[in-house]
Amino acid sequence: MSDMTSGDAAVVRAQELDPSEVKQCCAAAYDSDAARMLLGGSFHPGGLTLTERLGRILDLRPGMRVLDVAAGKGTSAIFLAKQFGCDIVGIDYSRKNIEAGNEEARTEGLNGKVAFQWADAEDLPFPDASFDAVICECALCTFPDKQAAAREFNRVLHSRGRAGLSDLTRDGALAPELEGLTSWIACIADAQPLSGYVALLSNAAFTVSVTERHDGALAEFVNQVRTRLVAAEVMVRLRKLVLPGFDFEAARTIARHALAAIREGNLGYAIIAASKQRTFETSKARSY
Ligand SMILES: C[S@@+](CC[C@H](N)C(=O)[O-])C[C@H]1O[C@@H](n2cnc3c(N)ncnc32)[C@H](O)[C@@H]1O
Repeated sequence: MSDMTSGDAAVVRAQELDPSEVKQCCAAAYDSDAARMLLGGSFHPGGLTLTERLGRILDLRPGMRVLDVAAGKGTSAIFLAKQFGCDIVGIDYSRKNIEAGNEEARTEGLNGKVAFQWADAEDLPFPDASFDAVICECALCTFPDKQAAAREFNRVLHSRGRAGLSDLTRDGALAPELEGLTSWIACIADAQPLSGYVALLSNAAFTVSVTERHDGALAEFVNQVRTRLVAAEVMVRLRKLVLPGFDFEAARTIARHALAAIREGNLGYAIIAASKQRTFETSKARSY
């Protein structure tokens, strides 16, 4: 399996790998020390400000059962439970992130209100119609089969349940440096145009009600990563930090090209919210 943090990964294209390898690379990248160092707790542009915005758009309320798909270390799920009083299940492909999320929920005294478990977003281990809302922040763009994931969002929602995404948007051609596996994992290479996310949800029997652009949040996020990269590299040189195998040059190159693409209007960030219109016809209906 390719390691996202190694230099070799920069030239590997995700399309050349088995989908499960792409998911494993992504999970390994986002449970690494480098991710924590460069991204902080919230692994998406706009941080908890945009998470709160998504919660308001979805009209989250006490007692609602919410699924956070690809929850990372659980920062958003814990925040939403505290802010809106809802009960949250977070899933992620990284077992280390699941452990970290459950540990944090215990520390915050949210046992029974927030729980994390391992799962693949494209094949959710929950009965049909078991949630009132599904959120998925900065992660759909990394799933090899985005349509399967959108169908799963539909399946696990109650009738009239709501889905809220926030994700990178990509319009047009990007520099070749942004097309490799590392850029895929960095949410860039397979990001879709806003209309693409709308189509994914519409094709999964959702009616899209809200789209909002937050491109400035992405520019701020990438600039912050660039600043943290400089600090991390200095600390590594001074032997005050160890990030084994982390390729600073590849990370700098991606950040530089990403900023250029944001300036040119080819990369952005958006929120998309939708309501379940009907149950998607699927042979995979399950009751667990
Ligand atoms: C950019 S991070 C976003 C994490 C979190 N939503 C946040 O905003 O802080 C992407 C996350 O997607 C997870 N992931 C990738 N592929 C997945 C899959 N197929 N199923 C579940 N989680 C997945 C990774 O492990 C990682 O935690």
